[in-house]
Amino acid sequence: MKQSGIGTPPGLHVGMIMDGNGRWAVARGRARVAGHRVGAKVVRSIVEAAPDLGIDVLTLYAFSADNWKRPSREVAALMRLFRAYLAAETARCVQNGVRVSIIGRRDRLPPVLLRAIDAAEAATADCGRLLLRIAIDYSAREAIIGAAMLGCRCGTREEFSALIAQATHSLPTREVDLLIRTGGEQRLSDFLLWECAYAELMFETCLWPDFDVDRLGQALWEFRQRDRRFGGLPQAAAG
Ligand code: IPE
Ligand code: IPE
Ligand code: MG
Repeated sequence: MKQSGIGTPPGLHVGMIMDGNGRWAVARGRARVAGHRVGAKVVRSIVEAAPDLGIDVLTLYAFSADNWKRPSREVAALMRLFRAYLAAETARCVQNGVRVSIIGRRDRLPPVLLRAIDAAEAATADCGRLLLRIAIDYSAREAIIGAAMLGCRCGTREEFSALIAQATHSLPTREVDLLIRTGGEQRLSDFLLWECAYAELMFETCLWPDFDVDRLGQALWEFRQRDRRFGGLPQAAAG
């Protein structure tokens, strides 16, 4: 992807498991889908703020392959919401230099959503300020299995690594630097298992509709205090 200038270090790849919409709504006596709607507004504000916070790849978990187990009414409402989000946000994304890429399976999505995905990806293809990857019908294990099946034809480990990205319809991208999960659960729920090998993990107790740009800024501050060693020695001892 395009960099902001010669000598500028690449930004961060942040992944987010946006969990807690249903509980947020139920706590207010509302239908779960009301939480998903408020959650979509939070997504908009996070996407707008991300580039100025030093993020240049943002991968958001919107719908897992296991979320098909939910009641069909909730699933249908989520599919409508994804379509509406893409239709409403594409022009803004172009304006703000946000390239949209949807990762995950496409063969089970409604045709009307597929058309919105194609339109959003085509319209934003030349944008280079932020790569926004939205995971819909996504399973990290399926992605790895898909790549492994193709990988039988690979001569090298590097070729196999590149296939992991292709297997999820996604553009090749970097490993995740920081993974944030809202909603209080401390698990990955089949999200970016390969790309998170050395990600810093942060689990927020707040529910996704209560998450905001200030909390993201706080998480990034905490991330920058951590010593990432990648199997080496701490900075001070490396001498
Ligand atoms: C995350 O919120 C959004 C999706 C999985 C689509 P949930 O809907 O899982 O909310 P909780 O975890 O039930 O509160
Ligand atoms: C993970 O949340 C998926 C998304 C946020 C899209 P879930 O609510 O589906 O995860 P579990 O069931 O608590 O592990
Ligand atoms: Mg949940």
